[in-house]
This record gives sequence, structure tokens and C-alpha cells, in this order.
Amino acid sequence: MKSKLGPQRIMFPLPTALVVAGNMERSNIITIAWINMLTGLPPTLGVSIGSKGYSAELIKKNKDFSVNLASVEIMREADFCGITSGEEVDKFSATGLTKIPSDKIHSPIIQECPVNIECKLVETRMTGRTHQLVGEILQTHVDEDKIRDTKRPDSIDILSINPLIYYSRAREYWALGRKVGDAYKIGYELKQRND
Ligand SMILES: Cc1cc2nc3c(=O)[nH]c(=O)nc-3n(C[C@H](O)[C@H](O)[C@H](O)COP(=O)(O)O)c2cc1C
Repeated sequence: MKSKLGPQRIMFPLPTALVVAGNMERSNIITIAWINMLTGLPPTLGVSIGSKGYSAELIKKNKDFSVNLASVEIMREADFCGITSGEEVDKFSATGLTKIPSDKIHSPIIQECPVNIECKLVETRMTGRTHQLVGEILQTHVDEDKIRDTKRPDSIDILSINPLIYYSRAREYWALGRKVGDAYKIGYELKQRND
């Protein structure tokens, strides 16, 4: 038997991302869990932002944003950025998070986040009262001590990144468990049996 829960907003695990918009002088941080890769070529990602806050309009005005993946180590700061508004507080000074210049966009990236993704805003649409913002990825930064070979993105050490995972329906933060298999390989034997 399965429990029928109706149309729920259940999807997990979700990352906890800190999205920054603005410039080195003035910028805001919003905590976002509704974020996903959209296309590979060009590489794009999509961010869903409610219309009540300050950030969606700021991103639309500035035309770029950075996505900074939060680690468990900065859980408190990440949560703070999700319960306060840039309209009332400078979240960089309040949290002590460090902004550093991006390579290709105006919005800065966050030093304390192990992975930083620079995006140019390429598309926007409204779904209900939510902004769907599509960003083309122009640059990616990873802490050097968390990647085994700086030329190979597949050598990022996910355990040392220690991503902060969000379980949105329960409003809980989780940490990563363990590797359980190799994707695009583990199903191969079953595929052969069915070929
Ligand atoms: C863990 C977490 C995840 C969140 N995910 C989203 C999200 O995906 N989209 C969104 O619009 N708001 C999300 N929020 C809420 C915003 O971060 C919050 O409304 C914030 O105060 C808006 O800031 P701003 O007014 O400076 O833009 C999340 C909050 C938390 C704590």
C-alpha cells in the first residue's frame, strides 16, 4: 500500500544554495533550495524565487547572479539568509561571510562556500507568483583542497565539500551519507540481460 498525499512539493535531496546578486559594493544573499541544472549545452541552471522577497527583482535588474553551494559548516549563516530580507539587513556584514570578485560577472561569490557558479541571466518567466530565472553558467570555482585534480571536475571530493542538504517539506538540514555505486555502470549487467 502507498499513502496518497495529494499534490505535494516533495523532492529530495535538495541543495542549500546561497544566491548572490549585486556588486562588490552592495549585494544581497538569498538562500535557495529550489534550483536545478537545466541544460548541458549551453550549461544553464534554473532558480525559483518567490515574488515577495527582494532578490528576484535585484537579479532581473543586474542581469547576473552567483550560486554558492553551502556546506554544513555555514548552516547557521545559510539559514539566516533565508529568514531575513536584504531590504532590511546587509546579509554579508550580519553573517561575516566574505564576498570576493567573480571572474565574469558583477555579482560577487562567497569565499566560505566550497563551490561557486557564475551565471548570466538569460531567461525569466513567471509561474504563478514565482519567478523562474534561467542562468547560463560562465565560470565555476571549487576550493583547491576539495578537488583531487584541478583539471577534472569529476575529481571533486564530495565528502570534503560536505554539502548542506535541505529536506524542504520537513524544514530540516541534513548531511551527506556515503557513496553507494557508480552511475552509468551499476545498471549495465541488467541492461545486458535485457538486450
Ligand atoms: C533552507 C531554505 C531554502 C529556501 N529556498 C527558497 C527557494 O528555493 N526559493 C525562494 O524564493 N525562497 C526560498 N527560501 C526563502 C528565502 O530565502 C527568504 O524568503 C529570504 O528571506 C528572501 O530574502 P530577500 O528578501 O533578501 O530576497 C528558502 C529559505 C530557506 C531557509
